[in-house]
Amino acid sequence: MSHDPYAIRPGERAVTLPDRVDAHLVFIGRIHTPFTMRAECPRQGRQDGPLCRIEIDAPWREGLKGLEGFAQAEVLYWMHQARRDLVLQSPKHNGETMGTFALRSPVRPNPISTSRVAIVAIGEGWVDVRGLDCLDGTPLIDLKPEHCAFSPPRN
Ligand SMILES: C[S@@+](CC[C@H](N)C(=O)[O-])C[C@H]1O[C@@H](n2cnc3c(N)ncnc32)[C@H](O)[C@@H]1O
Repeated sequence: MSHDPYAIRPGERAVTLPDRVDAHLVFIGRIHTPFTMRAECPRQGRQDGPLCRIEIDAPWREGLKGLEGFAQAEVLYWMHQARRDLVLQSPKHNGETMGTFALRSPVRPNPISTSRVAIVAIGEGWVDVRGLDCLDGTPLIDLKPEHCAFSPPRN
């Protein structure tokens, strides 16, 4: 039986999206994960989860300089397969209808997600991490070091 991931569930409400967007967002790379379907992704990444690779596009690779001094990073990514028009949502795991801004669902007007990840290794234009929950090929928006008292720098 086929499942429509865009189907509206009981209690949900969609709004009309504006026909113009004005944030000049730049994708700076892609995230590679073992997850090829949404159903395979964890609801939240865990730092003992599978190894994932963050690939940085060529113009931005120098931007990794100094990141090796940190054990953790915050990753911002664009949930490119999420619908964007729900103001009320009924998540599959419990069906309870909630406002979009009371949820960490990928479905939001600007489908930006965040995860705190453990940095495992850094190379030329890539960072291997654990702690992501997104599909393979998810566009990367930003990467920043996590200043974390209980997690000292790696070197
Ligand atoms: C609940 S969100 C949490 C995201 C992030 N950790 C946060 O809290 O902002 C994670 C879910 O988004 C879905 N997902 C993952 N990658 C996606 C993508 N590229 N487009 C749309 N949905 C995605 C999967 O169902 C996954 O379980």
